[in-house]
Amino acid sequence: MRETTKKRILVTGGAGFLGSHLCERLVERGDDVLCVDNFYTGSKRNVAHLLGRSNFELVRHDVTFPLYVEVDEIYNLACPASPVHYQHHPVQTTKTSVHGAINMLGLAKRCGARILQASTSEVYGDPAVHPQVESYWGNVNPIGIRSCYDEGKRCAETLFFDYWREHRLKIKVVRIFNTYGPRMHPDDGRVVSNFIKQALRGDDLTIYGDGGQTRSFCYVEDLVEALLRMMATPDDFIGPINLGNAGEFTIRELADEILAQTRSTSRIVSLPMPEDDPRQRKPDLTLARKVLDWSPSIQLPEGLAKTIAYFAGLD
Ligand SMILES: NC(=O)c1ccc[n+]([C@@H]2O[C@H](COP(=O)([O-])OP(=O)(O)OC[C@H]3O[C@@H](n4cnc5c(N)ncnc54)[C@H](O)[C@@H]3O)[C@@H](O)[C@H]2O)c1
Repeated sequence: MRETTKKRILVTGGAGFLGSHLCERLVERGDDVLCVDNFYTGSKRNVAHLLGRSNFELVRHDVTFPLYVEVDEIYNLACPASPVHYQHHPVQTTKTSVHGAINMLGLAKRCGARILQASTSEVYGDPAVHPQVESYWGNVNPIGIRSCYDEGKRCAETLFFDYWREHRLKIKVVRIFNTYGPRMHPDDGRVVSNFIKQALRGDDLTIYGDGGQTRSFCYVEDLVEALLRMMATPDDFIGPINLGNAGEFTIRELADEILAQTRSTSRIVSLPMPEDDPRQRKPDLTLARKVLDWSPSIQLPEGLAKTIAYFAGLD
């Protein structure tokens, strides 16, 4: 017999980077956690430490197919998040965002569950507004090599809002900005993991262009806290809401910090800018501060130290 106070929570993409940290927090909180993943970019290793827990279950499943389970809340995180991975099978990426959203929204409708969508700052594209506020509609190329991800996520947001308008589903949409930390995929080609790996091996650190483009970096623990707070907001607050860290760093500053922390002798070398790479990206977090009473507390040097320790321990 189930205890009535325990929530049954589905985390899609739960064996990935963010998903595994979220599952960990939910398991610690005492909820019944169902982690669903097709292991495209995630791995069992990320959740291996949870497998012995009685309130944790891992299921191999692809969200582009329907799933029939009984749950109270759904965190829909399934989707490759880094350009190297989402561009590898672009059609599958769009399917994961769009069919995955339809399947998970259908499940939420049948169960009366709350459902949170992990959307992305990429919905703003190469933004003409800086910092990005939630009311900005974005500047997105619909036919470029990043479009499978950007437009897939935009369509997923549309589906969430249409299910809310049409079926009054309890939706929550968060737009996540660059997040980093332990369990990032080592080969995801993202700037933090790339630089750390290169610095630890003593290889050159590759920056695109002059390295003057800026990014904001949110540590994973801060982000997970915000996801939990968002899910707990009243039904009439649905988002979209930006989540991330507003501290802005140039790519060159990031490289310098990683070189200093790893005491690496690597050099910094410059490569041509990839297509559609945004110059600037920084969240406006006014709404998150006001509604979630949240702002990130872990600053870049501290978060990088934990991430470097993780990468240094990988075999
Ligand atoms: N990490 C970030 O900086 C960031 C920024 C913006 C948005 N997001 C979003 O957050 C979510 C998690 O991102 P992440 O960084 O943890 O990436 P990740 O690649 O580590 O995690 C994604 C997980 O989804 C799984 N997955 C992919 N396709 C699937 C499918 N069809 N069915 C079932 N599982 C599938 C993968 O195997 C992986 O475990 C993604 O939706 C991503 O778009 C992340």
